[in-house]
Amino acid sequence: MHDTETIWKPEYSVGVAEIDAQHRYLFELWHLLDSIKGQKQNRNSCRQAMLSLLDYIDLHFTTEEPYYREHPRFTDHQQVHREFVRRVREFEQDLENDRLDIQAMTDFLRTWLIDHIVNTDIRYFKDMEKIRAGGQS
Ligand SMILES: [Fe+2]
Repeated sequence: MHDTETIWKPEYSVGVAEIDAQHRYLFELWHLLDSIKGQKQNRNSCRQAMLSLLDYIDLHFTTEEPYYREHPRFTDHQQVHREFVRRVREFEQDLENDRLDIQAMTDFLRTWLIDHIVNTDIRYFKDMEKIRAGGQS
């Protein structure tokens, strides 16, 4: 996939404007990291971008999770988020230890972000609509 295609698309909508806006911003932070990738000497910019990403991910999950706290598989989703944060922190640690493969990281982040929104977030938000409407999940 070409980098310019790594953008938020209408088909990624979970149906909640606040969450869609945050997902859009995650893609923007991804582009920031991706643009730093070419600048080999720029470890400090890379660290700053990764710390911004980690901060924003924390804010994002804190905003998103209450939307489906009543979901029967809420903890599974929360676990996936925790594992993702652990992985991103690991990348940050790799940077500190001078062994970060930025390309591998941006590839991972892009794949995770798109796959997670499409296959997990959207499903949970849809399930919650059904649950709130009194139907089965
Ligand atoms: Fe999620």
